[in-house]
This record gives sequence, C-alpha cells and structure tokens, in this order.
Amino acid sequence: MTKPVIAILDPVFQHEPDIETGVWGTGVELVIWRPTLQRDEPIPTSVLASADVVMNCRSRHKIDAGAIAAMARAKLVVQVGVGFNHIDIEACSRAGIPVCNTPDYGTREVADHAIALVLNLMRGISTYDSRIKQHIAAWSTSDLALPPVRRIKGQVFGVIGLGRIGLAAANRAKAFEFDVAFYDPYLPAGTEFAVGFRRCKTLQELLGQSDVVSIHCPMSEETTGLFNDAAVAALKTGAVVVNTARGGITDLDAIDRGLRSGQIGAAGLDVLPIEPPDVHHPLLKAWREREAWLEGRLVITPHAAFYTPESLADMRSLAALSVHQFLTEGTLRAPVNLDRLRANGFRN
Ligand code: NAI
Repeated sequence: MTKPVIAILDPVFQHEPDIETGVWGTGVELVIWRPTLQRDEPIPTSVLASADVVMNCRSRHKIDAGAIAAMARAKLVVQVGVGFNHIDIEACSRAGIPVCNTPDYGTREVADHAIALVLNLMRGISTYDSRIKQHIAAWSTSDLALPPVRRIKGQVFGVIGLGRIGLAAANRAKAFEFDVAFYDPYLPAGTEFAVGFRRCKTLQELLGQSDVVSIHCPMSEETTGLFNDAAVAALKTGAVVVNTARGGITDLDAIDRGLRSGQIGAAGLDVLPIEPPDVHHPLLKAWREREAWLEGRLVITPHAAFYTPESLADMRSLAALSVHQFLTEGTLRAPVNLDRLRANGFRN
C-alpha cells in the first residue's frame, strides 16, 4: 500500500521531524521543503502537487488560489499556527479541501505577552532599565515620572475579540485589578454573564472607556485596518494600545499620529503590518533613534508572543495530531472552513 505523502513547508524544526514522526510512526512519506533563496520564496509546484496533506508552518508563505490549483491530490491543509489570513479559504473550500489551524498551542503565552507589554509600559520597566544603564545618576526619585506609569486598580482593560487568547488575557487583567470590558460582535448574547466582564455593543463604546486596549481578534477583511485614525480619535486620551494579534489590524501611520498627538499614551506591538519591520517608517525610525518624545511610550517585540520552547513543541505535536486524526479516522481537528465546505456538499 502506498504511504500518504505529507509536505511540510518551511518547518520550525531545524533538524529532524522527531516530534512529528513520534505522532505518525513510519506509515507516511515526508517531503520537507525549506526556502533557500529568500524567506518568502514561492512554494515549488512540484512539492504541492505531490502531497496528500500540506502542512504550512509559516504565515509568510501564501497558500493562494495558484498554490491550491497546484495541489492535485491534497485532501487536507494544516496551518501549523493560529492565524490563517494568508490562506485563500474560499479557494480551498471550492476545491473541497478542509483547512485546519492549530489554535491551542500558545494561548497562555500570547495572553501572558499582552499583559507583559501592558505591565512593561505601565510600570516603566524597560525605560527605567535603559535609563540607569546609560546614566547611573538616573537612580533617583526625581527621575521616576513616566507618562504611562499609573496605578492599575480600576483602570479599564478593553479587549477587542474575546476568543481564546482575549479571554485568557482578560482573566489575567482581572487578577491585576483591572476593570475588564470587551467588544466581540460574534459571541452569543449572554456571554458577558458567563465570563463576568462588561460587554460593549460597539467598538467606539469600548475605545471611549478603555485605559488599555488589547487587540485579540483575527485578521480578516473586516478587521484589516480596524485600528485606524477613526479608532484613535475614539480612544480615551492617553490610552495604552497593545497588539499581539496581527500587524495588519493596526494602521501604523494612525498609531504614529496618535502617539505624536498624545491621543495614544503608549503602545506595545508584537506584530507589525510589515514583518520584518520597515525601518524607514517614521515611527520605527523615531523608536530606533530613541527620540525623546517617545521615551517609555513604545515597546516592540519581534512577533514573539507565541514563543516558549514548550509552546513550540505543542504547536508541532498538535499540528501533527491534526494530520494523524485525519489520516487514521477521517476526522477534522480545528477546521476553519467546515461551513463553507458543507455548503459545497462536503461530508466527513
Ligand atoms: P479566536 O478565534 O479564539 O478568537 C478571536 C475572537 O475575535 C473571536 O471571539 C471572534 O468572535 C472575535 N472577532 C472576530 N472579528 C471581530 C471583530 N471585528 N471585532 C471584535 N472581535 C472580533 O482566536 P485566538 O486564538 O484567540 O487568536 C487571536 C489572535 O491572536 C489572532 O489574530 C491570531 O492570529 C493571534 N495570534 C498571535 C500570535 C503571536 O505570536 N503574536 C500567536 C497566536 C495567535
């Protein structure tokens, strides 16, 4: 009997697929592709054409209509990660290919990271560290004032998107005595009573009352550029904005203008619209050059919110489990296009 072929695109493991083969055993054939020229090199058609299952390990590789057309025999696409905005879900659904993501490997890490960004800004951690590293004389009570530093108790922590990570962040914020509110138009009525957090009917309502805004919605057509100039204008003056979701949800020019005008007090960004960053962007230039007006008001991390050695291992084993479950039982773990597939007559 021929073995099913699994194509692993740009894996996160550096050496052997030990975790994956631990799940699959020897009953599969692996095709492992790594880009050799540039990070976002197109995936070779021959790799896509040979696969029964395509596992995409990086969001920088687009699974667009062309790539899907090349998948002559694929029965499953697995995103080794949460975000799937780089996959043409419509085209996969039309081709009858289920797409599964791996939503549950780093929920705690991303929520921790969002809170860490907020606490870093509101406790002045990196700024104090950097000041005393440069001038030991900064070890002085007269040098402690920093605009984003303020008492947390009673400050409103506004969550955009109360899904897995948003809820985990909200629970953490509550433990710090934040007053938690959320905006999520897709949660059923009454969710607010189940979770015990205040629900806002509109984004404007949330923005107008939040001292901290933490973004946790997926990036979609609807949410691309959601955090734009209008959102900044709707903010409570001096609010802290944190994005650990996807860079394209925030308009970096709007964040720049908001920080310069003071409408945004501080920002913590783990994700940017262009990654790796466009260092010529005026905000990133000011940040890199440590311009005085931005001191203590911007913290950037390199799309690292998901990362711990433990979460990376979970990501690989859970994605491998999706493939295993499909190949052995024909069932789908965490499908993201089941409704659209069923509308096209798909049965599993
Ligand atoms: P999820 O699907 O569990 O939750 C997303 C929530 O957002 C849902 O409740 C949904 O109803 C809500 N939502 C959708 N559209 C919305 C809108 N227009 N306004 C407000 N809410 C809206 O997703 P999960 O797992 O919590 O992931 C959240 C985000 O975190 C995603 O953007 C994902 O890409 C990102 N992420 C970032 C990582 C990082 O390393 N920085 C790692 C993992 C995920």
